[in-house]
Order: sequence, then structure tokens, then C-alpha cells
Amino acid sequence: MTTAGAAQEPPRSAGAQPLSGPRSQPYSEAAAETLWGTGIEPVPESAELGPTGRPLRLVPDPPPVSHQGDALIVAMCNQKGGVGKTTSTINLGAALAEYGRRVLLVDLDPQGALSAGLGVAHHDLDQTVHNLLIGSRTSVDDVLMSTRVENLDLLPSNIDLSAAEIQLVNEVGREQTLGRALEPVRGNYDYILIDCQPSLGLLTVNALACSNGVIIPMECEYFSLRGLALLNDTVEKVRDRLNPRLSLYGIVVTMFDSRLLHSRQVMARVVEVFGDLVYDTAIARTVRFPDASVAGEPITTWAPKSSGAEAYRAMAREVIHRSGR
Ligand SMILES: Nc1ncnc2c1ncn2[C@@H]1O[C@H](COP(=O)(O)OP(=O)(O)O)[C@@H](O)[C@H]1O
Ligand SMILES: [Mg+2]
Repeated sequence: MTTAGAAQEPPRSAGAQPLSGPRSQPYSEAAAETLWGTGIEPVPESAELGPTGRPLRLVPDPPPVSHQGDALIVAMCNQKGGVGKTTSTINLGAALAEYGRRVLLVDLDPQGALSAGLGVAHHDLDQTVHNLLIGSRTSVDDVLMSTRVENLDLLPSNIDLSAAEIQLVNEVGREQTLGRALEPVRGNYDYILIDCQPSLGLLTVNALACSNGVIIPMECEYFSLRGLALLNDTVEKVRDRLNPRLSLYGIVVTMFDSRLLHSRQVMARVVEVFGDLVYDTAIARTVRFPDASVAGEPITTWAPKSSGAEAYRAMAREVIHRSGR
């Protein structure tokens, strides 16, 4: 989904950041401190430039899992809708699972797009994440589903979840509700990826409060840059007040089209501001992603040889390399 007016010359209005010029936010410095996987071996660079304009790092094929259980929890977060959060959650999850990692996907959006994208008839479900957050008698095992992809499980949601923000308001420890619910299964997975809704409300705060880190999917489009400062502020607030271990893991640029000057300019600006936090892998715009969602499958199984499937595998290799698991 493209924001109306995206093709026009970007306005220089208040709040809009210029695409080029001096770095206006100290993200890269913060990034250097919060980059995960400190202690991981640096990798050689190829002579070839990647989509980010940097030399591609030659990330090796992942080794077998060395570290079982005690999942790394990752919030896939951006308060803008239609930027590729759900698509990235499904396909990064499926690619990690292909590499032998045990992955749990959590649908934390009442739209239920993650569940639908994995072929789950979510409207008919009795037990969803909503019951897990609100009902005291529901355990995570009652909600957990396996998917058609080996190593990939799901906690599904549907529109019922839209009531949760209001229902949680009067709970004690309301921001930690999701974390408490996930604790019993954390030992069964290597990664837990949470697909957040497009808002910074209480559900998203719950995701951030229980996560080790945040991955921001960002549509390669000028107006997408504008919300990132607000998102970064929210991450910092949650880190200060609720979850000191929370890091910004990385930014994955989606719907990238290397033929368009606009795409290349936006990418250059994102790299300028966020530096090494930007994954070398960019996800190109292709109709095969919506097609795979309609089929209810990750692209890695629906079109395993497609460039989209290869892109999410490359991202998964970066994620594994950076996290060291
Ligand atoms: N790389 C891509 N190329 C083309 N379409 C994409 C791409 N990534 C996502 N889409 C499509 O864009 C729409 C929004 O993506 P989605 O992942 O649902 O975003 P979000 O979860 O951030 O709202 C969906 O129809 C999806 O199929
Ligand atoms: Mg979504």
C-alpha cells in the first residue's frame, strides 16, 4: 500500500526530513551500542555493492543450532500500516525455520493477517491470543497451533483482540501480560517473532516489554521515514521504564525497487541515518508476496525458488549471524 501522493516531490514541511544532507538524528551512535551479537565474528565483504549501496557482507550459511531454547523474542514493529510487518514476520519466520530454528509466530494484530497468511481460518477460532491475554484460565498450549511449515508454530488472533487494549487497562502489570503468557513456551523455541499492529498502543507496548529486540520493517517510500523518530522514542521509553534489555535490532527495507531513483534515494537516507542497523538484504517489491498470502503460505514454500523467498532467506542468515543462534 502506498501513501497517497508518494510519487510527488517530497514536501519540505515541518516534520519531513530531507532525503540528503547532514545526519539529523544520532541513530548511528545509538545503533553502534545496541547492535546485537557483539562478539560475533565480522564477515568479509564482497566487491559487489548491495541494495544499501554498501559492499555486501558475505554472511555464511548458518551452522546447526547451537543454543536450544530460551527463545530470542523479537517485535516486528512499525506504527505505519502496509509496510511489510506481517509479510516479514511470516517469511522471516519460515526462513529461520528452514534453517532448523524452532520458531513461534505471535499474531498481535486484531486484523489477523498473520494467521490468515498462514492459512488459518481465524474468524472461527475459539481460543486466540485474546483469551491468553484476558482469560485467566487459558494456557498458551490451548492457543498454540502448528503450521504446514516444519518448525513453525503460531499463536493466532482475530478481531476479538481489538477489545484487549480496553480490557487490559485496569489490569495490574498490564504491560507485562504478553510476556507472562509466553514465558511457559519460551524454552521450546529459538525465536519468537511478534507481528505488531500498526499503532503504538498497549498491545504493541506489551510486545516491546517482553522482547529482546525490535526489527522495523520499513516500506521504501519517502513518507515512511517520518514515523521512525516516534517509533524510536517509544522503544527508548519502553527500554527506560519497562524493559532495559530492549534493543533496536535492525531495519529491513521492503518494497524496494532498484530501478527507481526514489527508492535509491530513500535507501541512501535510511542508511545515512541508521547505519549498520539497516540489513544488507532489502526486500524487492513483487506481486508474489500478496499472491502467497492469498494462498495462505509463506513465499518460501509457495514459490521456494523466487527472488522473494531468497531475499527472506538472506535476511534470516543475517539475523542468525547477528544474534549468534
Ligand atoms: N515486498 C513486497 N512487495 C509487494 N507487496 C508486498 C511486499 N511486502 C508486502 N506486500 C504486500 O503489501 C501489503 C501490506 O503488507 P503487510 O505485510 O500486510 O504490511 P503490514 O503488516 O505492515 O500492514 C500486503 O498486501 C502484502 O502482501
Ligand atoms: Mg500486518
